[in-house]
Amino acid sequence: MGQPTNRYPTLLFLLLMLSQCRGQRLSCDRCDQRFACNCSADGFSRVPTVTERALSLDLSFNNITMVTDDDLTGHRLLRTLGLQSNRLAVIHPSAFDLLWSLEDLDLSDNRLTALNHKWFDKLGSLQRLNLLNNPYSCLGSRPIFQSLLRLRSLGFGGPALEELNKRDLSGVAELEELTMDANNLKRYESGALAHIWPLGRITLSLHGPFLTNNALASMVLGDVSYPETPVILEDLHLIGNQSVQHFREAAKRRVRFLTLRNLSLSDEAIVDFLVVTDGLPLSFMSFEGVTLTGEGRWERASWTDHKSIDEVVIRNVVVLDVYKFVSFLQLGFLLQYPRKVSVINAKVFVMPCQTSRLLVNLQYLDLSDNLLTDMTLAESLCDGDGTLKDLRVLNVSGNALKVLSAKLISITPCLPAALEVLDLSNNDLKEFCLVLPALKELHLSGNKFLRLPPGKLFPNLQTLTIQSNTLKMFGPADLGSYKRLQSLQAGQNKFVCSCDFVNFLQSDMRGGGNVVHLTDREESYVCDSPLHLQGEQVGQVHLSVVDCHQDLFVSVSCAVALLAATLMCVLLWRLHAFWYLMMMWAWLKAKRGSKRRRQQRRSDGAGSEALLSFDAFVSYSDRDASWVENFLVPELEEPREYDEDSGNPNPKPLTLCLHKRDFLPGHWIVDNIMGAMERSRRTIFVLSENFVQSDWCRYELDFSHFWLFSGAGRDPAILILLEPLSKDNIPKRFCKLRKLMSSTTYLEWPQEEERVGEFWRTLHNALRREEQEGD
Ligand SMILES: *[C@@H]1O[C@H](CO)[C@@H](O)[C@H](O)[C@H]1NC(C)=O
Ligand SMILES: *[C@@H]1O[C@H](CO)[C@@H](O)[C@H](O)[C@H]1NC(C)=O
Ligand SMILES: *[C@@H]1O[C@H](CO)[C@@H](O)[C@H](O)[C@H]1NC(C)=O
Ligand SMILES: *[C@@H]1O[C@H](CO)[C@@H](O)[C@H](O)[C@H]1NC(C)=O
Ligand SMILES: *[C@@H]1O[C@H](CO)[C@@H](O)[C@H](O)[C@H]1NC(C)=O
Repeated sequence: MGQPTNRYPTLLFLLLMLSQCRGQRLSCDRCDQRFACNCSADGFSRVPTVTERALSLDLSFNNITMVTDDDLTGHRLLRTLGLQSNRLAVIHPSAFDLLWSLEDLDLSDNRLTALNHKWFDKLGSLQRLNLLNNPYSCLGSRPIFQSLLRLRSLGFGGPALEELNKRDLSGVAELEELTMDANNLKRYESGALAHIWPLGRITLSLHGPFLTNNALASMVLGDVSYPETPVILEDLHLIGNQSVQHFREAAKRRVRFLTLRNLSLSDEAIVDFLVVTDGLPLSFMSFEGVTLTGEGRWERASWTDHKSIDEVVIRNVVVLDVYKFVSFLQLGFLLQYPRKVSVINAKVFVMPCQTSRLLVNLQYLDLSDNLLTDMTLAESLCDGDGTLKDLRVLNVSGNALKVLSAKLISITPCLPAALEVLDLSNNDLKEFCLVLPALKELHLSGNKFLRLPPGKLFPNLQTLTIQSNTLKMFGPADLGSYKRLQSLQAGQNKFVCSCDFVNFLQSDMRGGGNVVHLTDREESYVCDSPLHLQGEQVGQVHLSVVDCHQDLFVSVSCAVALLAATLMCVLLWRLHAFWYLMMMWAWLKAKRGSKRRRQQRRSDGAGSEALLSFDAFVSYSDRDASWVENFLVPELEEPREYDEDSGNPNPKPLTLCLHKRDFLPGHWIVDNIMGAMERSRRTIFVLSENFVQSDWCRYELDFSHFWLFSGAGRDPAILILLEPLSKDNIPKRFCKLRKLMSSTTYLEWPQEEERVGEFWRTLHNALRREEQEGD
């Protein structure tokens, strides 16, 4: 690369600037409280404006084509910038200059045809840089990573990468992770990757070199292989003898951790691989995404030595010709060594007991995501005859097991009592009743447990996962039975949000003195019932006092109601409501009674007069009895022959109705009053303070009122005031009396002796006028 190639992107940049500068920058405000802004997949074609306080900015999966020099100004706090999966073709040389805090920059999956060292000149804090999968063919004319002193993770390369030179990676000294996509690498300067040390882990995609370029692949492998560095090789097609020879370099450098990912393997390649790695201290081998094209005939390598193999992982295996594939019975030379074996998602439906017997060192067996059934698992465990006696961890999650617990009871010896980790997730288990004294970890997620299994079965259990079951609730008592439990994951269950449960869980989440730590996310604890709480997070639920203390609530509300009733009664009493009520009732009763009596009279054929047996009913208070008996009665009932004063003949005697004398004993007083008034022509009220004080006098007054105004056709009552009684001194509630006093003229009992005669005359007149009219 010389000057001319450098000028070209600048021109392109200017062109793009011109074509786009008129486009307004949109803004993105999808930021959370921690100032992490996620503007991913939002259709932006330019870098949107975002708050300058943003700490992380995800712009992935947009249509951004360029980054100008002021698109990111002001983002001095930004730590993470994700621009992956856009259409970035142009980045201004000083676009990232002000991102002083940037630690993480992802430019992968874009259209960068050339890399510019100026982009990274000022990024002294950068720790992770991803440049993978862009169409550049080399890393540039000058070392581009030189100023990235803190770089710890680097990814570069892509389908277009053709050459790698020694100076390209100068300045890169120490990495935790290096990823290089070099599937089409054509030129490699020996030693280009050699000085990166220490190197935590290296991932290399070397499809082309492995197939066609012997020397190159060996050189690359030789440069990055260290005993402590896990080497991951991707996209390999290992078919013939030749393709495997490159591992000789790695073998020379005594590689110990090797992972092969996305590869196809023939029998021949496997045999040669075993030959190449004969006697190596290789302790970890992993094959992920393997297509086996052969028939499993690897016994030709049975003379080789692999005693350092400690762990083998085989994941996502496709066997092209399953029916021709032979069993592993010939592979004793390999199987006797590893302590840990994982065969995951490999369509294993049975591991024959004979194979199990070959795994004499086995302590950890992961057979998850296969096709094992209860029956075939029993076969794999040799029906508990003591094979696999050192097994500590058995992972059979994601298989078609139905009733393992029931089976386990009948084959208890097969699950070694020394088992420390047991993963039974994603089965259909409903209960667990097997004592496992050494068990430290138990995984039961994705089953059908309704409650936690009793803790006394696992006295040493420290970790329990039981997510995605049908647990209704759990409480201190359940957890208390686990003596050593430290970590529990129980989210995604069908929780019944009762008060006890909610309170317990919330206090546990806040670390309220509980030893058990909920290690899954709080959001995964969601109420399933009661209905009004369905879907709410248990941690967020606020249960009201009513929900939680129903007894207390009932007692308190009763007490309040009682108090209110008492207050009401007091209030009513103060307002004389009872008196009004009694009045109302008496009225109604009286009205009915009088109606009945009138009907009776009519049917008896007697006129109303026939019943009028008194001339007047005298209503008075008992305390005024002496006046009535000593003055009124003698004057009206036994008048003297002649009035000495006027000389007029005195009136004929009148018959009076007095309650003391004429009321029928045994009858209700109101009835008596009623009857007396009905049978009397007129009613005389003897008014005094005493009268106002006496309750039943008030009734009389009211009945009289009732008579007077309810159309019974009587004359107004006659009021006699024994003592001066101002209307205003009468309590307001005796509105009837007040009304009567203002509408009816009343006679006042004179204090002077000489006016007494006049008083009697007026009274006689009043009574007689009525009598005359009545005749
Ligand atoms: C942003 O949101 C998308 C889904 O819209 C998600 O896949 C991505 O992980 C989020 N990015 C970050 C940094 O959380
Ligand atoms: C990017 O643009 C293309 C067409 O120009 C469109 O089909 C696609 O949906 C856009 N992508 C996003 C994430 O908006
Ligand atoms: C696996 O490797 C082949 C080349 O052998 C490649 O074409 C394919 O894209 C790779 N698959 C993945 C998922 O990387
Ligand atoms: C593979 O090739 C090498 C030389 O390239 C040879 O030494 C070795 O014997 C061959 N292995 C087999 C199994 O043919
Ligand atoms: C068991 O296997 C499943 C599926 O591969 C995995 O998710 C789980 O973490 C494993 N459990 C343990 C204890 O390793």
